[in-house]
Amino acid sequence: LPVYVLENKQEGARIIAGIIAGVIKEKQARGEMAVLGLATGSSPVKVYRELVRLHHEEELSFKNVITFNLDEYFPMSPDSHKSYVHFMYKHLFNHIDIDPANVHIPDGTLKIDQVAEFCNAYEDKIRACGGIDIQLLGIGRSGHIGFNEPGATVNSQTRLVKLDPITIADAIKDFGSEEAVPHRAITMGIDTILSARKIVLAGWGKSKSPILKKMIEGPVTPEVPASFLQMHEDVTVYLDEAATSEFT
Ligand code: F6R
Repeated sequence: LPVYVLENKQEGARIIAGIIAGVIKEKQARGEMAVLGLATGSSPVKVYRELVRLHHEEELSFKNVITFNLDEYFPMSPDSHKSYVHFMYKHLFNHIDIDPANVHIPDGTLKIDQVAEFCNAYEDKIRACGGIDIQLLGIGRSGHIGFNEPGATVNSQTRLVKLDPITIADAIKDFGSEEAVPHRAITMGIDTILSARKIVLAGWGKSKSPILKKMIEGPVTPEVPASFLQMHEDVTVYLDEAATSEFT
């Protein structure tokens, strides 16, 4: 996997935002929609801040942008401050000129017997929009991308999954207690992610270093779902120096 190590995550975020802005402008120039696959969590926060800055200060428009988020907790109300819907509006959508009709985030309010149909429709919508032009990813300490936890298969698509104990433990900081963390989520699959034409992964901080090493140098295995990225021809990994601390 091609890896770039930046001095800090601010610098990394600026580069990633520049790449996303480039895709948007290239499509704009051709009068086409740009389809972005987006992530939540701490890793993309500064990327979104930079995209908002580009909108305010450098006239980057999102009028030709369609977005699909990777995942949402299940169950989860979009009105909850813990929802990924809330996160996306707070960090990005409230501050740019995207048409809300072009925003897609998995629905955490479904009844269990509606989930399969929703997930198939999510995949259909991505395809109907022409597929994802660029997918932004973080990585979880479990090795997940999206919420594809260890055991996820390469051909998996959007579906309801159980969260790994490591992921639940890491979410306690957001939810206050283990009991409050939803133990399930709806996530795009590995196949959905690998179908994106271009993929950028942001890995910041020392805590991600051991799993990043496995993703980059280890075998391709469902035990490290992020290792499936090695199968894609246009993935770039952006790390800060702390994220490389275990790479000896
Ligand atoms: C979020 C997502 C997850 C996160 C990962 C890292 O939409 O799909 O895979 O990217 O859990 O989270 P942070 O960035 O908070 O360390």
